[in-house]
Amino acid sequence: MEPGMRGKSVLLIIGGGIAAYKSLELIRLLRAREVTVRAILTKAGGEFVTPLSVAALTGTPVYQDLFSLTDEVQMGHIELSRAADLVVVAPATADLMGKLAAGIANDLASTALLATDKKILMAPAMNVRMWESPSVRRSAETLAKDGVLFVGPNDGEMACGEFGPGRMAEPLEIVAAIEKSLAARGGALKGLKALVTAGPTQEPLDPVRFLANRSSGKQGYAIARALAGAGADTVLVSGPVEIAPPSDVKLLKVTTAREMLAACEAELPADIAVMSAAVADWRPDRMANSTIKKDGEKKSPAITLVENPDILAALSRHKNRPRLVIGFAAETDNVVSNAVAKRSRKGADWIIANDVSTKENGESVMGGDRNQVHLVTATGSERWPDMSKTDVAHRLVQHIIQQFQSEKI
Ligand code: C5P
Repeated sequence: MEPGMRGKSVLLIIGGGIAAYKSLELIRLLRAREVTVRAILTKAGGEFVTPLSVAALTGTPVYQDLFSLTDEVQMGHIELSRAADLVVVAPATADLMGKLAAGIANDLASTALLATDKKILMAPAMNVRMWESPSVRRSAETLAKDGVLFVGPNDGEMACGEFGPGRMAEPLEIVAAIEKSLAARGGALKGLKALVTAGPTQEPLDPVRFLANRSSGKQGYAIARALAGAGADTVLVSGPVEIAPPSDVKLLKVTTAREMLAACEAELPADIAVMSAAVADWRPDRMANSTIKKDGEKKSPAITLVENPDILAALSRHKNRPRLVIGFAAETDNVVSNAVAKRSRKGADWIIANDVSTKENGESVMGGDRNQVHLVTATGSERWPDMSKTDVAHRLVQHIIQQFQSEKI
């Protein structure tokens, strides 16, 4: 497997054809390679596979309707078309090819295809006579000229009983073509360096004991992976966590806040800093050289705490300040107003704020796979819907890309 595939994301458009059943296997193969898949199911596609099977395999809602308020709230169709690293159409029908070649956008799939700023890979599937018809030939030629990539169709017996080119490429062939086009992709953040902190810090009391918190590091790791996926040269400074390191980032493992700050400063200059670590604000003023013992009837030992450096504030005010500094605010109350105050106090450009109070059902975002956040900037705040930490990472990276493209910073 290409290491570059892990952590990437694909928008899969499933057109209406008998080959749509193979798209389910394609999703499974992509997910097994840690590729995030969002799917648009066309109306005709929905006649061959159910939205439920697609949603169950992708692990995300299926987008079906251009005018669906629910879909637009989940993610607007323009953003949907751009949030992925690659758009894959499988099966690509004569209808979808013709619409894109002619610039027609009259449903969600054709609109997303016109609106995307990403490469499009099509896996055509249709009756051999249709494939060979002058009109589909024209569409294929126009699309190829416009830079659309193709995999297949293959020769073989077709569901309709005829023989010839028109069978959709096999899922493994499509995966190989996806790998190839992702590897060839430059990435919107190419040439930029990103620095990400993640996980807790551990502040030692003695050789075996420490003060720490419940941070899992999942959100920070997902952000590092998404930044690297967008082409940024990414360094992840991580406290002790149990997550497999992303393959295409430079991982620096640290234990204490002071080590984390030193590792970050050594990596400057950088263009983007995303400080998602749950850094311990305090540390014991001294570390005992041997384990602190229970000592008969004596009083319990007193622990004096001293303040740790604030890494986010230090980078925000550093002479080599990254152009975009993003902090996190894990709050249990007044989430947005506390985050607004934190943004100016620490000198960050943006704050991602979330509510970390334990829900009624006992769930907590700390350690969980989902997150509901607010993006707080100089101009206001926006609430993002509850979504997976991977989706939060991709959406944040999308905002970072827009910010750099608009050259506002
Ligand atoms: O703990 P607090 O709510 O102040 O954390 C807000 C932000 O500041 C987070 O982005 C966190 O990574 C960062 N932080 C830091 N160094 C600290 C404390 C917090 O970088 N010592």
